Amino acid sequence: MALGRPFYRGGRVSGGRDPDFAELSSSLEQDREIFHCDVWNSVVHAVSLWEAGRIDRSTAAEIVEGLVTVLEEGPDRLPQDAEDVHEAVESKLHEVVGEEAGWLQLGRSRNDQVATSVRMRLRERALDLSRELVGLGRALLDLAREHAEVPIAGYTHLKRAQPCTIGFWMSTYAASVARSARGLLRVPGMDECPLGCSAFSGSTVPVDRYREAALLGFRRPAQHCGEATALRGPILEFLGRLATTASELTRLAGDLVQMCSDELGVVEPPDELSSTSSVMPHKKNPDALELVRAELTVVAGLKGLGDAVHGKLPMFYNRDLQVLNGLLWDSVNRFELCVRVLRKVVEGLEVDEEAARGTVLGSHAAAVDLAELVAERADMTFREAHKVVGRVSTRLDREGVPMSPEWADRVVEELEREGVELRAEDVRDVLNLKRTLRRPVEGSTDPERLGVILDRLRAELAAVERLEGTWRGKLERALNATEAAVNRLGVGGFAEAYRGYWDGEASG
Ligand code: ARG
Repeated sequence: MALGRPFYRGGRVSGGRDPDFAELSSSLEQDREIFHCDVWNSVVHAVSLWEAGRIDRSTAAEIVEGLVTVLEEGPDRLPQDAEDVHEAVESKLHEVVGEEAGWLQLGRSRNDQVATSVRMRLRERALDLSRELVGLGRALLDLAREHAEVPIAGYTHLKRAQPCTIGFWMSTYAASVARSARGLLRVPGMDECPLGCSAFSGSTVPVDRYREAALLGFRRPAQHCGEATALRGPILEFLGRLATTASELTRLAGDLVQMCSDELGVVEPPDELSSTSSVMPHKKNPDALELVRAELTVVAGLKGLGDAVHGKLPMFYNRDLQVLNGLLWDSVNRFELCVRVLRKVVEGLEVDEEAARGTVLGSHAAAVDLAELVAERADMTFREAHKVVGRVSTRLDREGVPMSPEWADRVVEELEREGVELRAEDVRDVLNLKRTLRRPVEGSTDPERLGVILDRLRAELAAVERLEGTWRGKLERALNATEAAVNRLGVGGFAEAYRGYWDGEASG
């Protein structure tokens, strides 16, 4: 019997679909993301139906062989009128092997299927994202190392506040990037396999869910079929982790935009990552950073949208969840591109060390250090010293006099007017950046301490990279185990075809 299209229809609902509904309903485009994972998912399900004694060897072999063909032909050859990739693959399989394809969905629903395939794909994407983040972290650490001793004013409320170094500033972001890179590989629930849960309460088909989970590279089957098919905890958590990192990185992008402003002029991105104006011939604009800032803002916002789509849905599966998948891939894609662009900008940054130093030397950023000296030498409370230096700062500011070593005598004079007698060389010392940046405080901007922090962060990035390698190894082993299982059916070539999707990405 020839099955009309769309493939699932013609039973409870008639064959035809309203074209606008068809458009609304189709997730085929976003499902390109999970196509190869979904085929792996199906291969394992077919194997597991055979191992459970529910389909015979030749049927299983035909189905698996057909699935390998579908995988080799790729998502472009799927029927385009299907609702989603699951229907498209099953319908394509029917074209390839005929009626026997009809056994594939025994004991499985698209609900456990999509939950599984999305986790599988997200796992792959997480490995890539983590690798990109490690790359960005290293670029930041290289920049930090190169300019570990270059003073720059750090700002609070966008006012020059305390001196730090470019190394200190940039490594702040490296610390957050290292944490994120690890976090994406450790999302709770991502390593639990929903396959076998069927629509939500399990099926009467005795598939071995532990075996399925292992063949698909999961640590174990999801514990609760309802949760695994109806809720999207791991996905929301993943979106949340992306959102947090994105929100932190918008600040890196924003800082760099500001640092390359005409006002500061501390850094300059390379030409190939800058734009010009159609009318103002002199302009070199940091568009890459501005776009990254906006895109990452969207990524941060997508977490909220995801929660909104997911929240308040009744138990169990609802079709709304398809929209959540689209938001997830959107977020991952934007995030990955932004991290890559940020890395390239950071790698190519030119730093003007003089301009950086000028932000401290031309300001009162040393005022806290001066107040600490006053408190110590004049034996007054810090609160009193704070007021004294505050008044000194007001008067110097009016005359445009910065708190820098050349102006130490003026500072001493002003302190005298406050009744505080300090030696000019002591004041000069405290305004001398080389000296004051050597701070006795753990975790501070002190260049030597920073060196230790940079080493630690580098080691952390290497550890994340090793974790990523371990995960890739696990996936590789699962793929080989699946290949061994299909070999027992007399079929081959699955793992090779699947790897093509990894390799295609690596070269893309
Ligand atoms: N495309 C659907 C999704 O992404 C697959 C699950 C469909 N399930 C259903 N009961 N209609 O959620």
